[in-house]
Amino acid sequence: MKAIVHVVGARPNFMKLSPVYQAIRDTLPTVNQQIIHSGQHYDPIMSDVFFKQLHIPSPNINLSVNQGSAIEQIGQGILKLLPVLQDIQPDLVCIYGDVNAVAFASMVAAKLEIPIAHIESGLRSFDRQMPEETNRIVADALSDYLFTPSLDANDNLLKEGKHPDQIFFVGNVMIDTLIRFMPQIDSAKLPEIVPTTYGLVTLHRPTNVDQPKRFLEILDTLRRISERLPIVFPVHPRTQKHLDSDLSKSYPNIMFTSPMQYFEFIKLQKNATYVITDSGGVQEETTFLGVPCFTLRPNTERPVTSLVGTNILVGEHTRDLEKHINLFFEQGQKAAEVPPYWDGKASQRIAHIFKQILNL
Ligand code: UD1
Repeated sequence: MKAIVHVVGARPNFMKLSPVYQAIRDTLPTVNQQIIHSGQHYDPIMSDVFFKQLHIPSPNINLSVNQGSAIEQIGQGILKLLPVLQDIQPDLVCIYGDVNAVAFASMVAAKLEIPIAHIESGLRSFDRQMPEETNRIVADALSDYLFTPSLDANDNLLKEGKHPDQIFFVGNVMIDTLIRFMPQIDSAKLPEIVPTTYGLVTLHRPTNVDQPKRFLEILDTLRRISERLPIVFPVHPRTQKHLDSDLSKSYPNIMFTSPMQYFEFIKLQKNATYVITDSGGVQEETTFLGVPCFTLRPNTERPVTSLVGTNILVGEHTRDLEKHINLFFEQGQKAAEVPPYWDGKASQRIAHIFKQILNL
């Protein structure tokens, strides 16, 4: 029996694992699939709820790699994953996106000469200060099969010397999940504090939230922006560490909430007048949903969302954010399209390619 091991670890992995796991089960029912959770995201609201809502079986193994810095997690991950993969001896290791797990899983699998499939391969911000960028580079350098969500990713991989036969433009697996669960998303119940019309904010990148001066400047800008339209701000655990407990007085028009479950959060995006974010996935989801998105970062590894989609790369300056929001209220949203192959079928394409890879 052939075996595929999926290694995941953080919230943005789970909506990518769900459709791929299901497509393999449907197309290759004899394959033994195992899920290894790195443990990076350990709060139930950051992890368990996604497994439950998205019908992912519980992980077979949890490596509990959640202490220390990113590089310490990668080091621990190498040590803990090694005996597990030696024991399972899978035919393929599947890794997702750019979280720390892709760096250590690709290193261990490559050393054990187990073929690696990287899903959401080829994205580049060209900014090595972003912890995810080195994870992407390491994962792609060591992976054998590279599944890309957009054609800019193919170009990046070819420039880095990858062989065209290794690169498969399959589309965006995260959008598969969004499309599949749209009925549940539409009927999800939002918290009562969410107003009828609102802007949505998510911020968790170290460059935006870890330095108190920078973060306060952003919050001050959001306070001014929220005077025009209230803001809903589900707070990531990393961001929560830098927020005071009594926020309602300082930011009366900003509703701070706990992180949301998947269905609720997509509904929140879908119904938002606009979204301000520094997340990668949110830039893609808003593009698919046709919701204006303002990305508070100097660069994006997902250029298709601003070239084709609804995203506007604001840069890092908060005054530019304010300017873009004002322009949006005066002129409306920019024309946008959904990128090719963001059609709900990316995972099926991947499963068919796995069939050939595994000679099934
Ligand atoms: C990670 C990913 C990032 C992704 C983000 C989405 C990497 C390098 N980064 O960043 O790409 O966009 O997830 O969520 O893999 N924490 C909790 N509870 C949790 C998880 C984390 O309290 O369930 C705390 C951690 O202890 C840490 C902080 O939040 O102090 C940040 O978490 P960490 O896992 O280091 O990275 P993220 O910022 O979540």
